[in-house]
Parts: sequence; C-alpha cells; structure tokens
Amino acid sequence: MIFIANWKMFGGLNSLNSINPVIKFLKIFKNKKSVKIIYCPPTTLIYPMYKRLKNTPLMVGGQNCHENHKSGAFTGSINATMLKNVGASYVIIGHSENRRNGENNSLINQKIKSAIKSGLNVIFCIGETLGERKKKLTKKILNKQITSGLKKIKNKKKILISYEPVWAIGTGLIPKINELYETISFIKNKFKDYKVLYGGSVNPKNIKDLKTIEKLDGFLIGGASQNSKKFIDIIKKTYN
Ligand code: 13P
Repeated sequence: MIFIANWKMFGGLNSLNSINPVIKFLKIFKNKKSVKIIYCPPTTLIYPMYKRLKNTPLMVGGQNCHENHKSGAFTGSINATMLKNVGASYVIIGHSENRRNGENNSLINQKIKSAIKSGLNVIFCIGETLGERKKKLTKKILNKQITSGLKKIKNKKKILISYEPVWAIGTGLIPKINELYETISFIKNKFKDYKVLYGGSVNPKNIKDLKTIEKLDGFLIGGASQNSKKFIDIIKKTYN
C-alpha cells in the first residue's frame, strides 16, 4: 500500500523532526515490505527532507510544478526538472486546491507530460465537487478529468491516480463505503493497470472502513499526515 503525506502549505524546518518517528516505525513494522511512504512537503522543505530521508525507504515529492520542464522567465514558478534536481521523485498534479485556482484539464495534461519528461512519477488528483455529485455527474466528471489529463501519456507505471472528492477534503466527511467502492471500481475498470488511491479526510478512525475497499492501492493524506502519531496509526490500522 502507498501512503502519501500532503503537507500542503504547512511546515518549516522544525517540522522535519516529525518524520523521525515514522522512519523508526517503518524499520520495525512487520509489513514494511509492502508499505511505500512518500512525503510531499512545501517546496522549501524538499531538499532538507530528501537529505533526512536518504538511506531510508521513504521518498519525497513536490506538490505542483510548472508545465514547462525547461527553464524560463516564469517568476515564482518551479518546474519538474528543478524538483527532481533537489531530490523529489514524485509530484502531485491536478489537486483540487489548484484546479480551484484555474488549473484546467489541458494545463494539467501539460504538467503531467513535463513531469514525466523530467523523470518524476505523478500523483494525479481527480475528484468531483459537491454540486457535481448532487447532479449525479461524478463518473462523467472523473472520466473527463482522467481522459483529458492523461491524453497521449503512455507510461502507466509513472502515474498514481488519486481520487479526492472535493467535498471530502479537510471536511471530516468521506463518501459512503459502497459509493466509494463503486467509484473506485469504475476508475479501475475503465482505466486499467493504473494504481488508484483515495484522499479526503483520511484519519485513524475512518481508515477501518476505507481499508475494506480492497481495490485501493493506498491513501493520500492531508491534515492527519502532519501528525506522525496519526500518520503511523493510519498505516498500522490499514493492515490490522
Ligand atoms: P485532508 O486529508 O486534510 O482532507 O486533505 C486531503 C488532501 O487534499 C490530500 O491531498
């Protein structure tokens, strides 16, 4: 199972200490061989985190990148090549918090292509809004987001699809398990051979229900991933 910590815009150099218990835990965890942990801290922490995680199985990723993998006059932007240069092996692309700020499917497709060109793996986020869900448009929206986002991309192994319903992010709400099962099955049946994760309010309590969806390949965790105890708890309970 894959566990991704998305720290969003939280954390400074002091926060790096919170990964120590996770490193220790993984050393002694009996299922460690099947666990993959990826930390996606703010860009300022990628390099120090990479240095801290060197010689451990944990990996580092960025949270977004510019669509141009070559350098250019784009003030304030960071591209996939730069992320790779400071130790990232993954990058989150298409997160709803960035879609909300104007990222559309075609831009996301360009970003994914640039990330792959730079040698990064992609955590590709998709998800419907509450309004879309109420109108029963979930499958239509997900289909469009995936088809457009992955247009002309062949290397399925480089992509992790992460289903994050927008209304479940940071709200404490998760989909009903039978509905989530249906959505994950839809994605897996339609887009074969991709690994599929779930994200949105994953915590040590609801993981007991979420883990019953056997088709899931892992979880993308926001708030709870900043607290090492909660993060470890989620991992442990996924296997209990
Ligand atoms: P929360 O776990 O805080 O709901 O965030 C989910 C998320 O957006 C991960 O990318």
